[in-house]
Amino acid sequence: MTDKKQARVLAVANQKGGVGKTTTAINVATSIAMADRSVLLIDIDPQGNLTSGVGLKDQQAATGTVYEALTRDPLDSTGFVLPTAVDNLFLIPANRNLTGAEIEMVTFKERERRLQRITESLRSRFDYIFIDCPPSLGLLTLNALVAADAVLIPLHCEYFALEGLADLVGTLRRVRGGLNPSLEIEGVLLTMYDERTNLGQQVAKDVREFFKDKVYNTVIPRNIRLGEAPSHGIPGVLYDVKSRGAEAYGLLAQEMLSRAAA
Ligand SMILES: Nc1ncnc2c1ncn2[C@@H]1O[C@H](COP(=O)(O)OP(=O)(O)OP(=O)(O)O)[C@@H](O)[C@H]1O
Ligand SMILES: [Mg+2]
Repeated sequence: MTDKKQARVLAVANQKGGVGKTTTAINVATSIAMADRSVLLIDIDPQGNLTSGVGLKDQQAATGTVYEALTRDPLDSTGFVLPTAVDNLFLIPANRNLTGAEIEMVTFKERERRLQRITESLRSRFDYIFIDCPPSLGLLTLNALVAADAVLIPLHCEYFALEGLADLVGTLRRVRGGLNPSLEIEGVLLTMYDERTNLGQQVAKDVREFFKDKVYNTVIPRNIRLGEAPSHGIPGVLYDVKSRGAEAYGLLAQEMLSRAAA
């Protein structure tokens, strides 16, 4: 009797910095793990915010971090996976070493498919794999877009939210045109929303006009508890379960699971 899974692989991407990529990856993944799915987080940002956000700063498997997984030739990446303090939630961590990977990988054959090798070897072990991208459209993010079934785009509700998105949309189009024809947009998520400002409302309206039903109904409010949680190494949804931020990410996870089941 085998319980063979087929993970949905999602890249959390936006080349703009500080829009809530890591916060979204951590909190959605944790909420889905709490709903009894097995979830893997992969940190591909040399800042390692995802790794420290789940309390595993400076930790790695005997075989190393995502840097070794990307630059060596493992046939099976199981050895790079660490358990977290949350049941059903696992991590392939990153640290500063990863900065060098982007340069080293340039000389590799099929350099855009290094991460895909990792995710493909792990797909049968998880229900979801979330890849937390760095704030750039470089080779690491490209690897995530090639490995992923779909991309989840967090958008900070501020004046320049839509600016620069043209670059991301252009990159998605290029990836679809060659390296990953079936790449989809999983959803666009409005983050750090402040309903008291007209600006927040206007940005939300513009984003919905542009991305239509790709935009999640759930909106993530600006919430101080979500900002505090990473310094404690605890996902926001567990740090203060009753906070508005935690509640919103719980609802987002439900929305994602029900969309997937539809
Ligand atoms: N909804 C929120 N309310 C308040 N603070 C938030 C919220 N979401 C994220 N933050 C905080 O804002 C900062 C940026 O968020 P986060 O690290 O998730 O963005 P990012 O897109 O991953 O950034 P980077 O591009 O540097 O990787 C962090 O300090 C985080 O704790
Ligand atoms: Mg981040």
